[in-house]
Amino acid sequence: MAATAGRVIPCKAAVAWEAGKPLVIERVEVAPPQAMEVRVKIKYTSLCHTDLYFWEAKGQNPLFPRIFGHEAAGIVESVGEGVTDLKKGDHVLPVFTGECKECAHCKSEESNMCDLLRINTDRGVMLSDGNARFFKNGSPIYHFLGTSTFSEYTVIHSGCLAKIDPSAPLDKVCVLSCGISTGLGATLNVAKPKKGSTVAVFGLGAVGLAAAEGARIAGASRIIGVDLNPNRFSEAKKFGVTDFVNPKDHGKPVQEVIAEMTNGGVDRSIECTGNINAMISAFECVHDGWGVAVLVGVPSKDDSFKTKPINFLNERTLKGTFFGNYKPRTDLPKVVDMYMKKQLEVEKFITHRLPFSDINKAFDYMINGEGLRCIISLDE
Ligand SMILES: NC(=O)c1ccc[n+]([C@@H]2O[C@H](COP(=O)([O-])OP(=O)(O)OC[C@H]3O[C@@H](n4cnc5c(N)ncnc54)[C@H](O)[C@@H]3O)[C@@H](O)[C@H]2O)c1
Ligand SMILES: [Zn+2]
Ligand SMILES: [Zn+2]
Repeated sequence: MAATAGRVIPCKAAVAWEAGKPLVIERVEVAPPQAMEVRVKIKYTSLCHTDLYFWEAKGQNPLFPRIFGHEAAGIVESVGEGVTDLKKGDHVLPVFTGECKECAHCKSEESNMCDLLRINTDRGVMLSDGNARFFKNGSPIYHFLGTSTFSEYTVIHSGCLAKIDPSAPLDKVCVLSCGISTGLGATLNVAKPKKGSTVAVFGLGAVGLAAAEGARIAGASRIIGVDLNPNRFSEAKKFGVTDFVNPKDHGKPVQEVIAEMTNGGVDRSIECTGNINAMISAFECVHDGWGVAVLVGVPSKDDSFKTKPINFLNERTLKGTFFGNYKPRTDLPKVVDMYMKKQLEVEKFITHRLPFSDINKAFDYMINGEGLRCIISLDE
């Protein structure tokens, strides 16, 4: 065990004190892991749009002060009682949703919605004792998604950590811990386009472009990218997107534009925007008889989905997914192996790099729609 095991570790963390206000790099104290928990030294983290929504806290419940961050890679520092499958030095990817391997969901081939460890955006404490593991001057700081990776050290339930090939470069595979696996899995595991299909992707950020990558791997003949940001289109070509639609360029609903382009609708569509109108368009643009739409974007808490029931009667299917239906501990190491075998490229998703001290710039890039993923190095 490390010399630090069992002791409180003082370290740097980027704390969000208030909604929408720049994060502040603070000295915090990280308590040792309790039963079934693991303390991880985070090496790299990136920013996913889900962090931004809960930091802005406009359409989400506010919970502050909080340490955000859930897309990351790190190394186990110490483990709590009862953890047998992870040890100091293991390379791990934290995941915002877990896998206990024992509940009905974990035992089902069809679900990754673990009863014990499924995503809970409003919980800011650890499951075992309802307390935080982060403190500043004796006061607790809330966790986010059970991961809180904007900290040099963090405590995570062992069921939310995927142990990966130690030779995988952590400064690249960290993007597989949320966005890229989510988009890829949404297409390959949920939408399941057949070879030669037409696929529409709404939202061409990292999640959407990973969904497009999935469509390319599945052999789609046409991939239609939809985004309000015209700068997204040149980047999207590198991901096999063949056609572009900017809803702002048309005087009619985008689902009608897509239906005209495709002789009645696409075979599959994947929504990766978090915008309720895009979700509805993504469903209404699939072909009747066989079309399947998959929702991935995280909605605001008060959104409701409105469409005419006849759209379902006409044999369209609507689905949704967290983490692309991958089981974090069982499947994520295999996604990392896909990268190691060069079946999946992650470099093209990484457009910016920053030292930890500049973490607020990563928020600016995302707010301004600049680039895809920004890797933040905790060691710098
Ligand atoms: N379900 C999951 O497991 C899961 C996991 C990760 C991320 N997400 C969600 O996926 C979404 C995408 O995440 P990201 O990190 O790629 O974000 P991003 O900000 O990098 O990309 C989102 C893109 O959507 C575009 N967009 C926004 N509104 C639009 C609209 N009405 N029509 C067309 N395009 C629109 C934006 O211009 C942007 O290019 C977010 O909602 C995020 O919270 C879900
Ligand atoms: Zn995410
Ligand atoms: Zn479970």
